[in-house]
Amino acid sequence: MTQIAAILGGGVIGGGWAARFLLMGWDVRVFDPDPEAERKINEVLANARRSLPGLSDTAMPDEGRLSFHADLAEAVGPADWIQESVPERLEIKHKVFAQVQAACREDAIIGSSTSGFKPSELQEGAARPAQIVVTHPFNPVYLLPLIELVPSPANDAATVQKAKDILTSIGCFPLHVRKEIDAHIADRFLEAVWREALWLIKDGIATTEEIDEAIRMGFGLRWAQMGLFETYRIAGGEAGMKHFIEQFGPCLSWPWTKLMDVPELTDELVDQIASQSDAQSGKHSIRELERIRDTNLVAMMRALKAQDWGAGAVLNRAQPAKPELEDSALPIVTVQRAVPLDWTDYNGHMNEARYLQAFGDATDRFMEMIGCDGDYIASGGSYFTAETHIRHLDEVHAGASIRVETQVLLGQGKKMHLFHRMYEGGRLLATGEHMLIHVSLETRRASEPSVAIATKLGEIAASHASLPAPEGAGAAIGKR
Ligand SMILES: NC(=O)c1ccc[n+]([C@@H]2O[C@H](COP(=O)([O-])OP(=O)(O)OC[C@H]3O[C@@H](n4cnc5c(N)ncnc54)[C@H](O)[C@@H]3O)[C@@H](O)[C@H]2O)c1
Repeated sequence: MTQIAAILGGGVIGGGWAARFLLMGWDVRVFDPDPEAERKINEVLANARRSLPGLSDTAMPDEGRLSFHADLAEAVGPADWIQESVPERLEIKHKVFAQVQAACREDAIIGSSTSGFKPSELQEGAARPAQIVVTHPFNPVYLLPLIELVPSPANDAATVQKAKDILTSIGCFPLHVRKEIDAHIADRFLEAVWREALWLIKDGIATTEEIDEAIRMGFGLRWAQMGLFETYRIAGGEAGMKHFIEQFGPCLSWPWTKLMDVPELTDELVDQIASQSDAQSGKHSIRELERIRDTNLVAMMRALKAQDWGAGAVLNRAQPAKPELEDSALPIVTVQRAVPLDWTDYNGHMNEARYLQAFGDATDRFMEMIGCDGDYIASGGSYFTAETHIRHLDEVHAGASIRVETQVLLGQGKKMHLFHRMYEGGRLLATGEHMLIHVSLETRRASEPSVAIATKLGEIAASHASLPAPEGAGAAIGKR
């Protein structure tokens, strides 16, 4: 049964939550008194649709239904999860929780996006404090996996576990913050770095742009994949963490650090920062900057995914299953996925090399289906591609849902001749024809496949023999 999320407050953060739930197959019911909320959420959704589905190498669930409600009680009534993302003011949050708890299911989880308040503060005066937890996300909520899950002593272990399970199921990484604290864990670092940066600007040492370069050209890249302590462990060399702390720890108390102090945010300082920021980034609109950010994040997260590391490992864990062999009498669905942002080029459409990647993935999946899987390859046999012919028939853009159907033209002895068709819905985008030869990985020469593989491939080839010959099969360059 489709699960339901209620989103209270559809601004920057609420819009991101709405997009994540929706694209993970949940129905989403939004309540926000702002008449502009629907437009804003739809803009966030458009960005999410072009970026999130392509992070998965398999098809995401079908999108849920999005509805907007003028009445808070109507929005939360049937919800399994209620996410509060209203402005960061305690009295507004308390008022919203009172309205929510008068209308919601008792078994629903109420998560608050608060960046600063402790759960025990949010729970004050609530009808059922145990139902409310902090689930603090990071912008863009539809891409970044971290959610700081902060309970108070009023929450029982079962609620925390249920919240963890649900967050994991929508592709998040719930970090259980075991002791409640103002501003949780991550924002405390960000504030420390931000304070130090404000000093550097105020003291005329660096501009907003120079500070950003200092981060993104260096330690920002390290942090994205290892964080702080694993990075410093390496910095300590073979002598390790102890040596690192002995060497660099004392400088933390040198007078250069101003972390304890905050520069006064005078009009002059605020103007200075704003005008430096305009000079640095004013050439892009906020929507453009969001798209640049998303494109970069997707490329980095997909790189981490290939390493099964950090945020990429979270993506691998959340990935839906690959297509299974269902009816071998028909062309077989071997790839079903969205086009990732990093597969597109300067023309705005999928790059030619990615057509080959998708067809290569289709061949890999077909090989698994006939038994040429990781175990078989480890035992010393595999198929190598000897020849390829691709026809690019139509354009496709980031976020589009593509499907590859595979027809066996020949499956006999050492030879496997495949014809892939790539579609978006009913639109044929490309065809890929490949001749593969079974090889022994020991001699690197052609060899017979195992009996099990030969039999399975032979069965599919025999049933595909009655399918019409594909238009374009055997065509040479220039002959469509
Ligand atoms: N912006 C961030 O980077 C960020 C990151 C993590 C968490 N948060 C937290 O998320 C929450 C929301 O922040 P935001 O940046 O999305 O703010 P925002 O101003 O963009 O959005 C707040 C939305 O809440 C709506 N709203 C106001 N009163 C409401 C009510 N009574 N019921 C329903 N909706 C109401 C407003 O119309 C607005 O659309 C805050 O608690 C904030 O601390 C923000």
